[in-house]
Amino acid sequence: MARIFLTRRIPEEGLAMLREHEMDIYEGDAPPTKEEIIEGVRGKDVLICLLTDPIDAEVMDASPRLKIIANYAVGIDNIDVKAATERGISVTNTPGVLTETVADLTWALLMSVARRIVESDAFMRDGKFKGWAPLLMLGSDVHRKTLGIIGAGRIGRAVAARARGFDMKVLYYSRSRNEEIERSCNARFVDLQTLLEESDYVSLHTPFNEHTYHLIGEKELRLMKPSAYLINTARGKCIDERALARALKEGWIRGAALDVFEHEPAVTPELLELDNVVLAPHIGSASYETRSKMAVMVAENVRAVLQGVMPPNCVNPDVWKK
Ligand code: GLV
Ligand code: GLV
Repeated sequence: MARIFLTRRIPEEGLAMLREHEMDIYEGDAPPTKEEIIEGVRGKDVLICLLTDPIDAEVMDASPRLKIIANYAVGIDNIDVKAATERGISVTNTPGVLTETVADLTWALLMSVARRIVESDAFMRDGKFKGWAPLLMLGSDVHRKTLGIIGAGRIGRAVAARARGFDMKVLYYSRSRNEEIERSCNARFVDLQTLLEESDYVSLHTPFNEHTYHLIGEKELRLMKPSAYLINTARGKCIDERALARALKEGWIRGAALDVFEHEPAVTPELLELDNVVLAPHIGSASYETRSKMAVMVAENVRAVLQGVMPPNCVNPDVWKK
């Protein structure tokens, strides 16, 4: 029997698979503080955590028995993977299962901002609708426009695939060429400047790391068309949020839709005042189906490590090369 600390309750499908172990679950609506995480990890073999939990060497050293850090997310920028590898601790994530779900949300946001759905809803509820009008709530077409995908991983490709139904032209920029996205989505590989200059919709799908910090800042926003939109379902720190607020306010671009924030859960206050930005509380993977699958995946990773085998979604396989 192993001892597991979970920084939050995850869907039952995953918990059920770990029943034979001793589970200590942090029961709170907000993420635990660092001190609470350290306290929880003490004496545990397994840490199941969320993208909101910073897991550094200090947390790892709270339990010399720690064997695995199983992140309930695909992104692992909250974990010091190098420190984990040095300590022989496996780090796992949940890739694949959330790809299509995040792509769905990306499109929901894109369409919402383009056609002003959130503003329209508020308008209705405020009782402002006085009848059909030629200039009421005009937005932008989506069909046959140009979609620019930054980051051609699984999610970027799934977003690009959906553009076919709208007859869009697809551009992509990525650290390396991806022939699969070119073949299946008819996407054209371009440099970042070209993508920003030519796209009507720019959507971010990169992981967060030192190369993608403020990938979109003032310079990049100024390259975009004044009629263009920016969508971010990746990581907040990829965008300079203050520069974005200025861009939206001063009309360098027409709108934005954000599921992630630079200082999450805080939002740059200027954004809250603007109508041309749609805001969502990091719900990219938040479907019933996907959150259950992520829980099962986390449990499978934990079970593998407890059986002494490399977990299926190990991001630091070096730990197993000995
Ligand atoms: C969500 O943002 C994830 O990384 O799974
Ligand atoms: C995540 O699933 C990605 O690689 O895009």
